[in-house]
Amino acid sequence: MAINKHILLAVSGGIAAYKSAELVRLLRKNGAEVRVVMTQAATQFVSTLTFQALSGHAVHTDLLNAEAEHAMDHISLARWADALLIAPASANTIAKCSQGLADDLLSTLYLAATCPVYVAPAMNQAMWHHSATQENIAKLKTHGVIVIGPEPGEQACGETGLGRMSEPAAICEQISASTSPQPLQGVSVLISAGPTREPLDPVRYITNRSSGKMGYALANAALQAGANVTLISGPVSLPAPAGVDLVKVDTAAQMYQAIISRAEAHAIYIGTAAVADYTPIEVQPEKIKKHDHETSILLKKTEDILAAVAKLPQRPFTVGFAAETENLAANAVGKLTNKNLDMIAANWVGHNAQNGGFDSEVNALQLFWKNGQKNLALADKRLLAKQLIDVIAERFNEKNTT
Ligand code: C5P
Repeated sequence: MAINKHILLAVSGGIAAYKSAELVRLLRKNGAEVRVVMTQAATQFVSTLTFQALSGHAVHTDLLNAEAEHAMDHISLARWADALLIAPASANTIAKCSQGLADDLLSTLYLAATCPVYVAPAMNQAMWHHSATQENIAKLKTHGVIVIGPEPGEQACGETGLGRMSEPAAICEQISASTSPQPLQGVSVLISAGPTREPLDPVRYITNRSSGKMGYALANAALQAGANVTLISGPVSLPAPAGVDLVKVDTAAQMYQAIISRAEAHAIYIGTAAVADYTPIEVQPEKIKKHDHETSILLKKTEDILAAVAKLPQRPFTVGFAAETENLAANAVGKLTNKNLDMIAANWVGHNAQNGGFDSEVNALQLFWKNGQKNLALADKRLLAKQLIDVIAERFNEKNTT
């Protein structure tokens, strides 16, 4: 394990603060340079002197202390850091960060930091399970924060449950893994997500069941892998991960424009969007009236965005998705060849889906490329997205070095 980085350790008020003393020792042992910031409450549990001795630097506790600010002001401290680690993160600190409050040094640094942020929560199990804390943690994740733990077990208060701060060795390991070179460091990735809406009249449209979860999870996983991500999204009710360049569209034609105009400036394109294959020939200017007789809508084909991206002179590494209700592998391989893709990720939808597919939290994927294939077992879409990004990075890096 090697952490040759500047780690800014922010200690908030909780009994687990004593474990952070060991954390400083371990981080330094693995090569990190550590500076410590403490909240006022944290100094009630462990003295600043302990952290000063272990880190080899004066500890920062105040936002408006002229002397400390002169030595290194809070913005310089935030810029100095390669990673900000809040450990332990109390329920109060998590709540403040999730809301963007900046009324002390720690919460101000959270806003000022542009580096990766890690949060290791520690609190009583009931406090952890409270929906307010869970909502705050979910919010932090949308800021791009990596949450480490907490772990189950006996608590300082005598109760047993989830809420113990992860052990210093485990925290060090996670930081080491995510600060080592990233598989898509600096690579530009364009992702399409969600459904499209094809209007019939001013109030009606044709759409599909896509929730956008897979595409948004992929955007997040690509960000975590070091990529610069542009997300072209159809209408979904998901928050975009902080740090992605989000472009919202409605129709297949708008999605085509948004993607084709950007594709050649990106190294990788991943088409997860469930783009309408057909769109009404005419959009009625007024709401279509109800009649007693049957009616029909004339549809025309939309452009196949994925195939169009693959035909561009400066095409990115192009990855498609195939959602199938039958003959999964054969249909997927057919699309790989016909659309001239670098890779295709196939999954079951509809009656054959077995828990996965559209609007589900989980999915399973079969990946195919020219000379290979790989199955990714049924898993939470976030985990699956990480695994898929790892395979895409592997194939992309191999193609670029051969
Ligand atoms: O051929 P099929 O529509 O099943 O292929 C699915 C793949 O093609 C997905 O990656 C989807 O994003 C993409 N697609 C597209 N434009 C369309 C239809 C599908 O980019 N008009």
